[in-house]
Amino acid sequence: MRAEQNQLLTQTDPGTPMGELFRRYWLPALLADELPEPDCAPVRVRMLGEKLIAFRDTQNRLGLMDEFCAHRGVSLWFGRNEEGGLRCSYHGWKYDASGQCVEIPSEPGNPKLCQRVKLKSYPLVERGGVLWTYMGPPESRPPLPEHEWAMVPAANRFISKRWQECNWLQAMEGGIDSSHVSFLHRHTMKVDPMFKGATQSHKYNLGDLAPHFEVVESPGGLYIGARRNAENDRYYWRITQYVLPSFTLIPPRGDHPIGGHCWVPIDDENCWAWSTNHHATRALTREEREAMEAGKGIHVPLIPGTFRPVANKDNDYLMDRRAQTEGRSFSGVEGFAMQDASVQESMGPIQDRTKENLVPTDKGIIMARRLLIAGAEGVAKGIRPPGVDPAHTRVRSASVILPKDVAFQEAAERALLPEPGSAHATV
Ligand code: FES
Ligand SMILES: [Fe+2]
Repeated sequence: MRAEQNQLLTQTDPGTPMGELFRRYWLPALLADELPEPDCAPVRVRMLGEKLIAFRDTQNRLGLMDEFCAHRGVSLWFGRNEEGGLRCSYHGWKYDASGQCVEIPSEPGNPKLCQRVKLKSYPLVERGGVLWTYMGPPESRPPLPEHEWAMVPAANRFISKRWQECNWLQAMEGGIDSSHVSFLHRHTMKVDPMFKGATQSHKYNLGDLAPHFEVVESPGGLYIGARRNAENDRYYWRITQYVLPSFTLIPPRGDHPIGGHCWVPIDDENCWAWSTNHHATRALTREEREAMEAGKGIHVPLIPGTFRPVANKDNDYLMDRRAQTEGRSFSGVEGFAMQDASVQESMGPIQDRTKENLVPTDKGIIMARRLLIAGAEGVAKGIRPPGVDPAHTRVRSASVILPKDVAFQEAAERALLPEPGSAHATV
């Protein structure tokens, strides 16, 4: 990869090609419970290189706007959320949820001045336990996405987010790189509660350690198939979904909920890693929910009051060399999420892709990069990229057994769609 291509893929500030691509999608901005009630404390939001402030006003309207007061640039995080707007604590200028200035206390006789002042603002809409925003041109704004995890009843899902200290792309590339699972996560698979009882899938996973990968384009991104041998001349397929710009779904194991991720750039050297679990047809069990709340599965224990993991780069992710040498952990880091974060952050804030050596198991990554570059180039020409249409977000991951002579994406066609009322396809 050339240095310019790496820059194109990794830079998402306003005005960059990848930044413009990201600004064609609804993206998760906050967990709904970060703004729990009218007039609650405002929250700083950093996304795509922009510094924003989110708040819920007295009438329950949600606002997401420039963090800094138009008067002399004070952060509105220090403001007062009162009587239908956010008031700067320096000289009392007040803004409504659309960013419109509604009061300049020192200029009561000059309403025109007030009308002229408006902060940059973006829509903020609640769906599925998440507050979503769209930061692109209003005329290109699509309907809200319909990722299944956001559409099921609240009892059927669990969502968390964590701060990851590296560029979004190297984090996301881990999500579509199925080949690392047998190494980095090898031991964790055996003990994690989200894997319990999925004996069939374990048998196939452990019985064939050299899976064959096939990646094909889907309407919104990629189907990433990992194929292993099963009995009676058949294959066991694990099919990951990738939907642009950065949504993934992990193939399920047994009746356990489907896991998924979304990576949202904070700036070029930091990102949010959103982690979701959902079940299409039943509520999560108490055991499952408690495990997720405790930071098991794809979730992590966080430093209270923050989204920073307890295990982080300042403490070398609490790496346990003994667990590594005694075979209790492949990498010595505990838990799927921090195993991923530790290796990805170790690449540096932005991986230098001019030095990498890709092999056939990196096919999903290569194809995703191509789609992203083509998507960004298309946006510059006014072409709508894949994954914007809500229909493209209505997909499921699946694990299925198929005859040897069929194309997996065709034979598993129905398993890859979230048909209402149907459970996920799994073994
Ligand atoms: S800086 Fe905000 S009111 Fe003066
Ligand atoms: Fe991983």
